[in-house]
Amino acid sequence: MLLAAPSFASAQLVAVSPAAQKYGEMCAGCHGVEMRGGQGPALADPTWLHGSSDEEVARSIRQGFRPSMPAFGGALSEPDIKALVDYLRETRAAKPMRNNTGLREAYEPTGVPRGVVRTERASFRVEKVAQVDTPYAFAFLSGNRILITEVAGRMRVVENGRLRPEPVAGAPTGVLAGLPRTNKRPLLDVITHPDYRINGWIYVATARADKPDATGEMTNLITISRGRLRGNQWVDGETVMEFNSQSTNALRMAFDSSRHLYIGTPESRRDHPMPLALSPAQDLASPWGKILRMSDDGRVPPDNPFLGRKDAYPYIWAYGLREPLTLAFDRTGELWSSENGPRGGDEFNHIRPGRNYGWPVVTWGHPYDARLQASNPEQPGVEPPVISFAPSPALSVLTFYEGDAFPGWKGAALLGSMKQMELYRVVLDGDRAVVQETVLRGVDRLRDIDVGPDGYVYLLTDSGFLIRLVPDA
Ligand code: HEC
Repeated sequence: MLLAAPSFASAQLVAVSPAAQKYGEMCAGCHGVEMRGGQGPALADPTWLHGSSDEEVARSIRQGFRPSMPAFGGALSEPDIKALVDYLRETRAAKPMRNNTGLREAYEPTGVPRGVVRTERASFRVEKVAQVDTPYAFAFLSGNRILITEVAGRMRVVENGRLRPEPVAGAPTGVLAGLPRTNKRPLLDVITHPDYRINGWIYVATARADKPDATGEMTNLITISRGRLRGNQWVDGETVMEFNSQSTNALRMAFDSSRHLYIGTPESRRDHPMPLALSPAQDLASPWGKILRMSDDGRVPPDNPFLGRKDAYPYIWAYGLREPLTLAFDRTGELWSSENGPRGGDEFNHIRPGRNYGWPVVTWGHPYDARLQASNPEQPGVEPPVISFAPSPALSVLTFYEGDAFPGWKGAALLGSMKQMELYRVVLDGDRAVVQETVLRGVDRLRDIDVGPDGYVYLLTDSGFLIRLVPDA
């Protein structure tokens, strides 16, 4: 049913030592298969927060960090810990990687399958289109151009298949200084207005440091701006809307056909107030953990569901979400989003106005620390997910396929992931997923997806590769 044994060069390069195996079993879930981070920091990052000497790294592993990383001193023997420390050190030295600030070091993706990938309803080849520094999103423009945002603050243009060497001049960059270490992404999502061919508007989300929250952690100020591209110059720039966000972990924008702009906001604190129902994602006065909805010039639409409530943040469309990293409309105009749960509990949700999606009260996930707490998957008044994933693939990209190049995929959701590095084809029948097929695996962490004017499926990977799936004739 799945891929007909495509060859993944990455798999061939990994020599599985006992320490590598331990890492894969016990650490990769949080720190990433390639140590490039996830729920835990990128261990291949050039900066250590808790010390880089062998003794300090061993102590990090032995003692853990409450509440976000368990202590492994009990589960691992001292020789095991020493082997892991060696493995971390050697992997760093052998494969220096880029951090979130977009610094380029020697890194090549290795997982692009050679030859034809055969799946149930389509056969395709994977082609590389362009390579940039750590990206967040891309959008198709007129004139055979593709706009790509690099998280460190540069907008790049691919024109007729070639990456322009110089970034877009005068474009919003966000502000890197002051953003927390795990969150160094001043430049985020980019999309075009539904009437882009007439009005030329391009929307972009940027971040800068805002005030600390109640627990003392830094938060972000997210700015939605719009502007137009003239040549390689950003012009007519203006701010559409600003709001405070816990982090930059899951900001994604989408337009509906009546030109309302939607944006998902994260709320993935580890130390929630008790009772959980008081958490920001459940608090209608907070913009965190929500899907927000606004007009294309940033005003509150008169039919937003909580306008009647004096204490509510008026932009809220739906609430109780953890990290709604994807957002897309299907052909009937229904809104869908996936979100990352904590250790289990990734959800694919049908988003309806005014509904509560449950986080952090109702989730299939488990807390990160070692507390014995059962997941609490159902509750009246809370929307159940259409699909709940376990283990968490870290869902990150979503589009509904409406092109002509893959007739067998028409109308299907293409849903992809970071940690699991997989792309799924999901066929929906109402609120039920009736088909779920993995159509691509192992290439890279997937960051963004869209269908090109040519009908090909374009994917942007976390290490900076814009690739596309081209049907095999
Ligand atoms: C449940 C998630 C989780 C698991 C599992 C996990 N870690 Fe961590 N780890 C974290 C988080 C989160 C941090 C950051 C803690 C902080 O800075 O407060 C961290 C920090 C670290 C650090 C310190 C990094 C620095 O910047 O100094 C090391 C080293 C580390 N982990 C190694 C490991 C190893 C080795 C394993 C497997 C045996 C492992 N971790 C398993 C979540 C995890």
